[in-house]
Amino acid sequence: MMIKIGFIGVGNMAKAIIQSLKNSSNNFIIGGFDINKNFKNTCKNLKIKQYSSNSELVKSSDTIFLSVKPQQVSDVLSEIKQVIKNQMLISIAAGVSIGKIQKLLGKKIPVIRVMPNTPVLVGEGACGYSFSKELNVRQKKIAEKIIKSFCKIYFCVKEADIDVITSLSGSGPAYFFYIIEAMIEQTKAFGFDETKAKMLIAQTLTGAGKLLLTTGEEPSILRQRVTSKGGTTEAALKIFEKNRLKEIIKKGISAAYKRAKELSR
Ligand SMILES: NC(=O)c1ccc[n+]([C@@H]2O[C@H](COP(=O)([O-])OP(=O)(O)OC[C@H]3O[C@@H](n4cnc5c(N)ncnc54)[C@H](OP(=O)(O)O)[C@@H]3O)[C@@H](O)[C@H]2O)c1
Repeated sequence: MMIKIGFIGVGNMAKAIIQSLKNSSNNFIIGGFDINKNFKNTCKNLKIKQYSSNSELVKSSDTIFLSVKPQQVSDVLSEIKQVIKNQMLISIAAGVSIGKIQKLLGKKIPVIRVMPNTPVLVGEGACGYSFSKELNVRQKKIAEKIIKSFCKIYFCVKEADIDVITSLSGSGPAYFFYIIEAMIEQTKAFGFDETKAKMLIAQTLTGAGKLLLTTGEEPSILRQRVTSKGGTTEAALKIFEKNRLKEIIKKGISAAYKRAKELSR
């Protein structure tokens, strides 16, 4: 069965998601609307139907994908309020709750709130998602088919846990980039080539992630396997422990979680 998906906002995330949807199945008929001046070209490149307004798009879609920036959500929803029927709406807008979407629309339509991350852009996304009460079994199946197309790891969670997901996999890429920045700065201090350092670190991070996902081992076990007594890794870890790096990381994640809760309120 064909599913008509209309994207409100065809920016960075939406473009990657549309590409994944196209690669995953021929059952999606995809269209979009965006106010960006390059929108016409975007539609041509992605080979999707170009709508001339958000309301026109909503009228012709079974599923609406909300992919504008959080601060643009309320304008967009007031624009489609009159024309939306009971179609399901998938939102990736960070910090915008299901209740807020339904309130702005003045209707309890079926909503799926997804918290993806930037690795979606390269087909390596992870996300958490929540269903509103209004979804039926068929709609849940369709929503999951869509989510699976752009995320490799995905968990259905209660909406309160979206804030945990935000502080973990949502903001997570930035935590790793921050560590990578420090690693590059230090290798530069050794006089080593920055480009080579970047590539070695990136592959190390990818490889460590793969080890964790494929072996099913605890991270502490995988860490111990690299750490021989009196060796180099142990020397580094001693410094991390002494300076309570774990505590700093936990505090950072807590701050992100607290902020996510404040923003979704
Ligand atoms: N990036 C992440 O890590 C991440 C993670 C999780 C969730 N998200 C969420 O994903 C969403 C999209 O992020 P993004 O990085 O893809 O943003 P983006 O590139 O700015 O895409 C949003 C698009 O919507 C367009 N737009 C603005 N107002 C509109 C309107 N009234 N009608 C139709 N289109 C409109 C924008 O046009 P202009 O460019 O002209 O404004 C832009 O092309 C955000 O809500 C964000 O919270 C992002």
